[in-house]
Amino acid sequence: MVMDITVKKAESLKGEIEIPADKSITHRAFMFSALTKGKVKIANFSKGADCMSTLKIIQMLGCSVDYLNEKELFINAKNALKEPGSPLDCGNSGTTTRLMTGLLAGQNFNTELFGDESLSKRPMKRVISPLEMMGAKFDHSDYKLPVKIYGTNLKGIDYNSHLASAQVKSCLLLAGLNADGVTSFTEPYKSRNHTELMFEYMGADIKIEDNKVSVQKSQLQPVDITVAGDISSAAFFIAAALIVPGADILIKNVGINETRSGIIDVVKAMNGDIEILNERLISNEKVADIRVRYSKLNSTVIEGEIIPRLIDEIPVIAVMAALADGTTVIKDAGDLRNKEADRITAVRNELSKLGADIQEMPDGLIITGKKHLEGGSCVECYHDHRIAMSEYVAGLVCKSPITINEFQWVDISFPEFLKLMSSVCH
Ligand code: S3P
Repeated sequence: MVMDITVKKAESLKGEIEIPADKSITHRAFMFSALTKGKVKIANFSKGADCMSTLKIIQMLGCSVDYLNEKELFINAKNALKEPGSPLDCGNSGTTTRLMTGLLAGQNFNTELFGDESLSKRPMKRVISPLEMMGAKFDHSDYKLPVKIYGTNLKGIDYNSHLASAQVKSCLLLAGLNADGVTSFTEPYKSRNHTELMFEYMGADIKIEDNKVSVQKSQLQPVDITVAGDISSAAFFIAAALIVPGADILIKNVGINETRSGIIDVVKAMNGDIEILNERLISNEKVADIRVRYSKLNSTVIEGEIIPRLIDEIPVIAVMAALADGTTVIKDAGDLRNKEADRITAVRNELSKLGADIQEMPDGLIITGKKHLEGGSCVECYHDHRIAMSEYVAGLVCKSPITINEFQWVDISFPEFLKLMSSVCH
């Protein structure tokens, strides 16, 4: 259902929220459970549409899913994996598509993956080419969905990736679980390492040296998983608290794995008031509560190794930069053009409509901060959940109300967004 919303300037942003489960970790919890041949209890999973695409697919591959309550479910993989009766719908989810391609390439049956209009435009060569080196067989047109996967025996390779991408890495590691010999993946900078941490947690034969990960054929063990809160969802609340005058919020249960926490480093570099409290470990992932208060932000430079550590937060960091003192430069982020939308163009176009001073570069953005944004305009979200939520945050500090068209796209990762925002923001 189409939902256009209006966002007004916030009077106050105060209180405490608990952030819902991490999307990346939930995908992995669902998929890896499907490989255990046993029964796994998963607590605090993401209810976003992307993770639901993964859950439906593993059911089609023979897993049964039983909900204990709203926050916990069992995945029973005793009869998995088996050939599905029809093609598998990845919806809007790049992570489902790329990881599933690796998981399915070495099975002894054939499958077909398809997705929505946006997903059908996104590049698959980054996973198809290395998997072909492992012996995998596919049918596709120009490396786009739909992709047919002809399950076959795979052999390990030592792959050097020019991209720092957790989707490509995880795809190859999943293929490697079922391949002869050793499968290694080396990347220029370290991308999110949830796959590595969960493989260790579930007993896979995995070795990590700097930016190189190697895996040998292994059977994942059925161990219960609790999913940490999503720092990429928390990012919208962190940014909002930094820019709404007088704001002070506590965001509980946020995953702070250092391969994801680049936004915390950027907030500190911008002079933001952020405190990391009550650090603990949940299912091999670091979690904390985060307190954020309104701050006079200054500009910064964001480039190089930090990019994969905050790749999904760049749209909302751009909002912070639009209100910071000075000129912020974001570079080395060209892969942002291959996300749910071209996020570089989307951010430039739509924040400009709100009055931001923002220039587009081939691999990033140059943003000169202003004291306030005018607003009073209507923005598009490009069918992209993170663009929609970044616009919402910008709307909280615009002089005049803004309209965001098709805000329903937030359901892809964060269906609870509006409810949580209205619980702290007035
Ligand atoms: C993800 C990896 C990132 C990220 C995406 C989720 C994952 O993509 O942008 O939202 O869960 O592995 P890339 O690996 O393509 O950078």
